Amino acid sequence: MDFEAYVELKEPLQENEMREVDLDCGSQGKKKVLLVKQKGVLSALGSKCTHFGAPLATGVLGEGIVRCPWHGACFNISTGDIEDFPGIDSLPCYRVDEVGNNKLRIKASKTDIMAETRIKTMASRNPKIDSTFVILGGGPAGASCAEVLRQEGFQGRIVLVCKEKQLPYDRTMLSKTLDSKIESIQLRTQDFYDNHQIETLLGTEVTEVDFEKKQVKLSTAVTLPYTKLVIATGCT
Ligand code: FES
Repeated sequence: MDFEAYVELKEPLQENEMREVDLDCGSQGKKKVLLVKQKGVLSALGSKCTHFGAPLATGVLGEGIVRCPWHGACFNISTGDIEDFPGIDSLPCYRVDEVGNNKLRIKASKTDIMAETRIKTMASRNPKIDSTFVILGGGPAGASCAEVLRQEGFQGRIVLVCKEKQLPYDRTMLSKTLDSKIESIQLRTQDFYDNHQIETLLGTEVTEVDFEKKQVKLSTAVTLPYTKLVIATGCT
């Protein structure tokens, strides 16, 4: 951790209180940090929801979580990890220590301290692992499933089958910004999926599922065997 700064509180943080404070990051500028105290333990997190930037200090503090006031995304206060959607990124989380009367020291890496979002550590594909997750549906549920599998350490093959020709995107934006460019509403880039060895089959439909043989037939005439199948086709 190569960044360190101090915050002086005018009043002590109370149990179950959330408070947004300004952190002076020197040449990097100022940064707002969310402080939380629960069960006597202090946490310091990014202050804005990773979905659309709502100020989390105005959200709801639950047992170990803070819930966003706008659309309800939920973050773990000890780790900053996202625990409920919408949104797919976690919050940056900093080390915080009480170092005096109402004085706190915050430590982080220089890159983390200015970041608004954080992607949880993802496992790498291990070709020796002969296990395949096939995910039907390229909506947010399918996309989140693929990511969370890697975040939870799955090292086998992941195949995301998307009927649309686009990578998974935020569909709620379609009714908000009518001239959205697809690149601006995609949840992740192709590079992201490539870097984490998540195969994306775009413009591809599943025409048949054989639960006994554990395989799906695709509109491209390919038969894809699976170890686990996730059906994330929404209402369809
Ligand atoms: S801004 Fe927080 S859930 Fe949308």
